Amino acid sequence: MIGRSDGRRVSITGLGAHVPERVVTNAELAAMVDTSDEWIVTRTGIRERRVASPEEALSDLCLPAIREALEQAGVQASSLDLVIVATVTPDMIFPATAAILADELGAVDAAAYDLSAGCTGFMYAVAQATTMVAGGLAQRALVVGGDVLSKIVDWSDRATCILFGDGAGAVLLERVEKGGFLGFELGADGSGGPDLYVPAGGSRVPASEATIAQGEHFVRMNGREVFKFATRVLVSSAENLLEECGVAVEDVDVYVPHQANVRIIRHAAEKLGILPERVVINVDRYGNTSSGSIPLALADAAGEGRLRKGDLVLMTGMGAGLTWGSALLEWTEEAA
Ligand code: ACO
Repeated sequence: MIGRSDGRRVSITGLGAHVPERVVTNAELAAMVDTSDEWIVTRTGIRERRVASPEEALSDLCLPAIREALEQAGVQASSLDLVIVATVTPDMIFPATAAILADELGAVDAAAYDLSAGCTGFMYAVAQATTMVAGGLAQRALVVGGDVLSKIVDWSDRATCILFGDGAGAVLLERVEKGGFLGFELGADGSGGPDLYVPAGGSRVPASEATIAQGEHFVRMNGREVFKFATRVLVSSAENLLEECGVAVEDVDVYVPHQANVRIIRHAAEKLGILPERVVINVDRYGNTSSGSIPLALADAAGEGRLRKGDLVLMTGMGAGLTWGSALLEWTEEAA
């Protein structure tokens, strides 16, 4: 689906991010599986990633990010109307991590639910929350993107364990007078589901001793197919959205793509015609943090002073589903 915002303006008025303390370098991985720093850097651009401790769950990563976003916006959690957590690694199957967080925050008046759209989850959640705020159902919506993929990665599989990291980011969405989100493009192609999935633990194949013995509780990925898909949709989704919004690619000031692999990012930026200095890249420090990727990159860009009032920010995510999603945002003064 695709559409430009024609109602009330909604923007990011607070932004926060959080990653676990523990840094895992490529050299450490090379001591665990048959790989090398050189291979990982050349093929992915990743140098290190953050990994949660055994006690740390998704909500533990989200909470500091949320507190930072609320503080920046000067908003009390008790005034939130909505909390959406985009993730594929919730604290548990149910209840939703969003409900756990709403309780911890004291967001007693908020609707709270999780959303599953792979690494694209954050874009889907922002689109939903934006329309709810624009339509008047919510005044203040909190959208969190985060994952703890280290808990579902097979640390003996060199094809996947080198790629992922843990992290979370949060944005507060409120109405603004001018600017804000200009449009969204979201899509899914379920026929590509088997290219990136976790076989067991759901109702199709419940977890059992046999599934654990087969390692079916770990991420399975067809890296080459996902690579091809990613390079294709990062370009098509962004191009479709820019056309819908009547914006030329030269007018994009900051490009925040999903941080999966620096080769995918560079390919997309080049095809789109976005100058390298306008591209936000932090995959070298965090790896692929799935739903946390775009808000973490946004927070990095804000921290570096790269987001100024009036800047046009293009974000595109893609991931399991297979799914993809883009948003175009005119950065507002209220934001970060
Ligand atoms: N170290 C050393 N060698 C390796 C490693 C490793 N860590 N992993 C694979 N290899 C080997 C392979 O076995 C293969 O060997 P072979 O030629 O003898 O068979 C060789 O390296 C080349 O493998 P390719 O898979 O062709 O390598 P490629 O250049 O495609 O890079 C990668 C692999 C990095 C996984 C790439 O395909 C990729 O980034 N894909 C996209 C992954 C992705 O973004 N996934 C997440 C999506 S978002 C979400 O929702 C979670």
